[in-house]
Amino acid sequence: MEIIIVDNSDQVSTTAADVIAAHAELGHTLGLATGSTPEGTYRELIHRYRHGDLSFNRCTAFLLDEYVGLPKDHEQTYYCTIRRQLTSHIDIADERVHSPDGTAAHPGEAAEEYERLIARSGGIDVQILGIGTDGHIGFNEPTSSLASRTRIKTLHPDTVRDNARFFEGDESRVPHQVITQGIGTILDSRHLVMIATGESKAHAVRAMVEGPVSAMCPASALQLHQHVTVILDRAAVAELSNVDYYTYAFSHKPQWQGF
Ligand code: PGA
Repeated sequence: MEIIIVDNSDQVSTTAADVIAAHAELGHTLGLATGSTPEGTYRELIHRYRHGDLSFNRCTAFLLDEYVGLPKDHEQTYYCTIRRQLTSHIDIADERVHSPDGTAAHPGEAAEEYERLIARSGGIDVQILGIGTDGHIGFNEPTSSLASRTRIKTLHPDTVRDNARFFEGDESRVPHQVITQGIGTILDSRHLVMIATGESKAHAVRAMVEGPVSAMCPASALQLHQHVTVILDRAAVAELSNVDYYTYAFSHKPQWQGF
């Protein structure tokens, strides 16, 4: 796990955009996440595209998760959110932006089909991830199997509360079930890019980076992956014990190694 610590959330966004851009230039398959944290990264990628510095025209994208039961055109579906935040502003073909079908009559089957679709497309080259205050990745809440595949999950009440801000603060409007890539699915991506900002994530970041690998902190499963880039701002590292070492290791990294 490579830990990159930068001063603020803007630098988290530009650093994450550097990583994603390098993959996009190779026409790679991108794993996209919704939530507040990646928004700055997406804005930066759009900026680079508009300035002619970057193209996504050979890329395919897969979303991590989707609410069950919201109409597809509801503005809070992740289908709509990712188009609003990123993909409608860049040159990726819309039909190559995939997400689980939260409107399916049989969501469990839709989840299995999504898993097959990822496999058929050759897998995900780079997956961008945020972390929940409870350590979740995708919508894999604490105690999710570390080997889990794409499936239905019921959201933890804390996550419902966290996400109520997207539903005018009304928890009763937040769907309680989702289809999410499993932790095992996420670990199959060839490169994982985790971004976290702000004090509210400091506790979860500590559990992910320095805690034991445990289903109680789904993000700790990243310790089992061979290529993880974690990009954090100062506030998010407040509870880490080995900040000096991470800073030293990154500043002494050979240039040729890249991200
Ligand atoms: P956030 O969500 O980026 O909105 O904080 C992260 C997550 O829940 O995965």
